[in-house]
Amino acid sequence: MKALIAALLCAAALVPARATDNLYRDLGETAGITAVMGDFVDRLKADTVIGHFFKETSRKFLVKQLSDQVCQATGGPCVYDGETMKKSHEKLKIGSADFNRLVEVLQDAMDARQVPFATQRALLARLAPMHRDVVTQP
Ligand code: HEM
Repeated sequence: MKALIAALLCAAALVPARATDNLYRDLGETAGITAVMGDFVDRLKADTVIGHFFKETSRKFLVKQLSDQVCQATGGPCVYDGETMKKSHEKLKIGSADFNRLVEVLQDAMDARQVPFATQRALLARLAPMHRDVVTQP
């Protein structure tokens, strides 16, 4: 009986890890994530609504940081070594509308790379909690 309970607990503990690994794989692993993030940053810089936020930011730097962050957050082997979301965004005066626009731009980048809708939803769900650290204006 104890062995059965231990086996069930181990199986339960494995579920989130496996779900996470699937998302990393579904996004096309490191190469797929980097391709989407490159497209995403190009779109952000060109965007008429929030492009001004990104004018001074190095494309290479942001693509690398976002790729590492997404790779790590979806169970991939990368290590994100950048600033916390709070620290890196606190002086930028980002509002909810800016955040929502960024999500739309990310969806456009994922659509362009044929990332399946369910995979898009799963990634957005993982990023959504960052809203509280990024948005500092109404
Ligand atoms: C879930 C939402 C977001 C995520 C996951 C995210 C992620 C990141 C990451 C990983 C960095 C690099 C941090 C570092 O290593 O220093 C960064 C920087 C930056 N983010 Fe975000 N971000 C989000 C939302 C936003 C929004 C809504 C805006 C503005 C509309 C924004 C504007 C910027 C800018 C301008 C920088 C560069 C700051 C600099 O040049 O040092 N971010 N973001």
